[in-house]
Amino acid sequence: MPPGRPMEEIAPYSQGDFSAPAIFSCSPRSGGNSDSAAEFFREGVCQAGGRAQVFYLRDYAIHPCLGCMRCELAPLGDCFLGARDQSGPLFQTLLAAPMLFIAAPIYFYHLPAQFKAWIDRSQSYYHRWEKGDPRLRKLPPRPAIVNLVAGRRRGEKLFEGALLTLKFFLVTFNFTIEEHHAFRGIDASEDLRMHPEAREELIAAGREAWATCHRAPSILKT
Ligand SMILES: Cc1cc2nc3c(=O)[nH]c(=O)nc-3n(C[C@H](O)[C@H](O)[C@H](O)COP(=O)(O)O)c2cc1C
Repeated sequence: MPPGRPMEEIAPYSQGDFSAPAIFSCSPRSGGNSDSAAEFFREGVCQAGGRAQVFYLRDYAIHPCLGCMRCELAPLGDCFLGARDQSGPLFQTLLAAPMLFIAAPIYFYHLPAQFKAWIDRSQSYYHRWEKGDPRLRKLPPRPAIVNLVAGRRRGEKLFEGALLTLKFFLVTFNFTIEEHHAFRGIDASEDLRMHPEAREELIAAGREAWATCHRAPSILKT
């Protein structure tokens, strides 16, 4: 587990600033294709006059779920590992952000291990959601945009596993995947950066995302 980024970076969300889309770049590889996708999307948001914060998941300390189910019995439903790593403050962003952009590579037809570890750690939130916790049940419906990259060109179901997992991970936080982008044959770290159509598509998605935030003021106020 890496020592992790300073927590102040998450502060705008934990302090109730709900105005900026949160961007999660979820590859262990620094400077690769998921980072490029995140950068393109942010560029689009900025072009539209907005701002967004990028979280590089690899920089945060995230302990895998132990499956101990202590969260199910804990009075407030908290995971005891929350005191030992940085997964909790990252979940704060999912509680607060008006919109989400997630970029990730396909690893063995799925998501990379650290990202999956964070997803598994949302189990304590899922239990609370199931029990009707108003903090989760009263979250406003919000849009998520997903970008996946894969080295292979073939494979009918290349993105299916990852998309299904993301869909159900995000339900707990009342995000719906409204749009997904998927690029095949993207393998070397510069491949997406050198792909003009992908760049255009993701910048346009960022611009549109910021415009949507402003068209839906209820998202910002909640
Ligand atoms: C451990 C590992 C597993 C991978 N598994 C797949 C796979 O199942 N299918 C595929 O198309 N590409 C696979 N790839 C290739 C990556 O999806 C590809 O290199 C991607 O562009 C990496 O994105 P990144 O630069 O954001 O890390 C794998 C790469 C690694 C390192």
